[in-house]
Amino acid sequence: MDVMKAIENRYSCRAYLPKPVEKDKLLRVLEAARLAPSARNLQDWRFVVVTDQQKRNALAQASYNQAFVAQAPVVIAACSVSSYVMRCGQPVAPIDVSIALEHMALEAVELGLATCWIGSFMPHEVRKILQIPTDAVVVELLTLGYPADEFKTPARLPLEKIVCFETWSF
Ligand SMILES: Cc1cc2nc3c(=O)[nH]c(=O)nc-3n(C[C@H](O)[C@H](O)[C@H](O)COP(=O)(O)O)c2cc1C
Repeated sequence: MDVMKAIENRYSCRAYLPKPVEKDKLLRVLEAARLAPSARNLQDWRFVVVTDQQKRNALAQASYNQAFVAQAPVVIAACSVSSYVMRCGQPVAPIDVSIALEHMALEAVELGLATCWIGSFMPHEVRKILQIPTDAVVVELLTLGYPADEFKTPARLPLEKIVCFETWSF
């Protein structure tokens, strides 16, 4: 599959089959994260991979009861151990972790899997469930598994609404 096909076929999957993700596929998805770029090549991301059903139930509760979080056979807690702020003023933690997460999401498509980013969660609860130390920040969760729902064509703004050339002209 070429990259654009994976991009076109990715969608937020909110229903999963009760089929575990094979170890080799899971490792491929994680490898895609490992290869992501990061500021200063800090690689300051840390990923807690959760397959235990009780923990997934707890994570679903901590995600304001988004039930599909418990249904997904894998939930990945994407964390950062960096407090580094770039000279442009932006913190690297959410940026680096997000790039790695989207690498995972695209590799998942390649492997016939599906994902959903989860930003609606209580970080202090996730920290407790997964015993994440206070020097790490939980940036996002990502559900992963075989989809039980259908691809939905995404609603997106046309290019001319989001892109201009040479000077700001929105
Ligand atoms: C940073 C981020 C956080 C998100 N958090 C949630 C979430 O908590 N629950 C959820 O169902 N979807 C969540 N989503 C999925 C978005 O709603 C979805 O990407 C958007 O509606 C576009 O749809 P698509 O991913 O199917 O193209 C999140 C996506 C991103 C990028």
